[in-house]
Amino acid sequence: MKILVINGPNINFIGIREPGIYGSRTYEDLIDFIKKTAEEEAIEVSLFQSNHEGAIVDRIQEAYFEKIDGIVINPAAYTHTSVAILDALKAVSIPSVEVHLSDIYSRDEFRHVSYPSLVCIKSVYGKGFEGYREAMLFLRDYLEKKDL
Ligand code: DQA
Repeated sequence: MKILVINGPNINFIGIREPGIYGSRTYEDLIDFIKKTAEEEAIEVSLFQSNHEGAIVDRIQEAYFEKIDGIVINPAAYTHTSVAILDALKAVSIPSVEVHLSDIYSRDEFRHVSYPSLVCIKSVYGKGFEGYREAMLFLRDYLEKKDL
């Protein structure tokens, strides 16, 4: 089972940016956490991070040709603005789960709008790194049931 984990703008800056919200662990720590989870759960994982909206759209489109089974996506600030990322997720029809390190619904009002939530089969927020694990396991179970 192939899962692609996409992280959007400034996620490469966790550990530096707003530690009171995003914690002190770095993006490299997040990569290690995701890879370890994938190994334990026998999931084949690919990782991608970009600060650019179009690059994220391109990566989602590539996932279609790579026959990626599921996508875990933290579009970061693009969550609240990007119809392009929403449309890309719709276009490829790959089951996707949205993740946020912080609880977007208890922060600024502009963060309460999530475009990807319109297409994602689940949203996980406010659980830090653990949210990525929850998203990967949810997708794994969903995909296994789908194939029965
Ligand atoms: C975020 C929440 C977004 O509102 C914010 O713009 C981010 C990160 C999160 O993981 O909590 O950059 O997606």
